[in-house]
Amino acid sequence: MVTDVKELIEARSEPQRCEAALLSKVLVKSYGCQMNVYDATRMTDLLSREGYAETKIEEDADLVILNTCHIREKAAEKIYSELGKLAIAKRALNAQGRDMKIVVAGCVAQAEGEEVLKRQRAVDIVVGPQSYHRLPELLRQARDGARLADTDFAVEDKFRTLPAPNRAQIRARGVSAFVTVQEGCDKFCSFCVVPYTRGAEASRPVAEIIAETMRLVDAGVREITLIGQNVNAYLGPDGDGREASLAQLLDRLARIEGLARLRYTTSHPVDMAQELIDAHGANPKLMPYVHLPVQSGSDRILKAMNRKHGADAYLSIVERLRKARSDIALSSDFIVGFPGESDADFEATMALARAVGFASSFSFKYSPRPGTPAADRDDQIDETVKSERLAALQVLLDEQRQAYNAATVGREFDVLFEKAGRHEGQIGGKSPYMQAVHVEGQMELIGREARVKIIAAGSNSLGGRLMSEEAKA
Ligand code: 5AD
Ligand code: SF4
Repeated sequence: MVTDVKELIEARSEPQRCEAALLSKVLVKSYGCQMNVYDATRMTDLLSREGYAETKIEEDADLVILNTCHIREKAAEKIYSELGKLAIAKRALNAQGRDMKIVVAGCVAQAEGEEVLKRQRAVDIVVGPQSYHRLPELLRQARDGARLADTDFAVEDKFRTLPAPNRAQIRARGVSAFVTVQEGCDKFCSFCVVPYTRGAEASRPVAEIIAETMRLVDAGVREITLIGQNVNAYLGPDGDGREASLAQLLDRLARIEGLARLRYTTSHPVDMAQELIDAHGANPKLMPYVHLPVQSGSDRILKAMNRKHGADAYLSIVERLRKARSDIALSSDFIVGFPGESDADFEATMALARAVGFASSFSFKYSPRPGTPAADRDDQIDETVKSERLAALQVLLDEQRQAYNAATVGREFDVLFEKAGRHEGQIGGKSPYMQAVHVEGQMELIGREARVKIIAAGSNSLGGRLMSEEAKA
């Protein structure tokens, strides 16, 4: 097992094979969830090996990648409109004798496939979330004039073929990093496109995750968030035919020296095993914060959403999490106005939110996604009703977030400092509960944890005082 990890690190520590000087520039525009943020960094690392430096300026780019998200309403239309603007920029560059290759990646690419090439002539490559490791080859073909769509769910392990970032790249990205441990979704909630764009649930091997994490920590990362569409469904190969659960994986990662904090997101209630709940009491590096989407508080709607659990089961998880770790902060996603949602159903959602008391939440009006079962229902809810319900829910959730923040005033905890603050002499970081915290302090503390007493609370951040100028060892 240990040898596996060593081998992986060694294999990935080969000197960067970048024969070409960094002559070309790539702009990656990423939309949507943390999985896309992570994929964007992996694409950037992959392309840096091909001689592409990152740029934020569109006019400088030889290659523009739109790493798209399909979850929001009219996602594809918004991408076509963005592509329309890029096509004009491309034509202007062509007129000056320069070229700009345009790639559409991510979930819209997966869902639309070749259609993107048909609808927008300026697009050179369409590549799905499971095949972006093939970008260098696709770009070679595009340079020869081909226009290609690769939306296969590749059989090879994408992660094994992707190059690891170098120390400078890791440092530039800060002290907190994502590591994808699981991809895809088998749940088929009746409102959601993800199972169609990200494919079936699959977990990365433990050794690969440990190697990636060790490399990040070695370069200065202190906080790792394990990500996956259904991260708590993680069941990864662990050598000799064994499999490790998410709790076991977290336990193994916690042993990595120099790593201060572990988090995971996003979880589904049905996969919230007691072992994982217990880990919040047993694993000191596991942060007391869980994002656990409930979507609705009505059993009838939860059933229609195909969530496979009721409100009581959710409340029981919350109770057990609080038993394991009394200070745990909870966050959730809500959908209001799902087809057939009555006033009483909506009231049940309000009641569930009141019963839990969330530290933070995301809430959305239901919007039909073509191809999903709920989109075909003929009992869609009126837009004004949806808006009223969303407004009422958001008032409650905002109150809860403010009350949660206010309750931290006077408390002391470790803050992981990430960056300079907005004002001179200030530095900013994150509390164990995912709140932004600002203090007067030295820049040397960035990248480290230090004890802070909270002295003020706003709705989106906290103000604190350093208890000592010293960082934790
Ligand atoms: N309408 C509204 N919200 C949606 N979400 C997913 N699909 C839809 C939809 N069709 C929300 C869910 C999910 C979050 C990422 O996006 O709350 O948890
Ligand atoms: Fe979508 Fe449901 Fe899967 Fe989450 S669990 S990605 S909401 S289908």
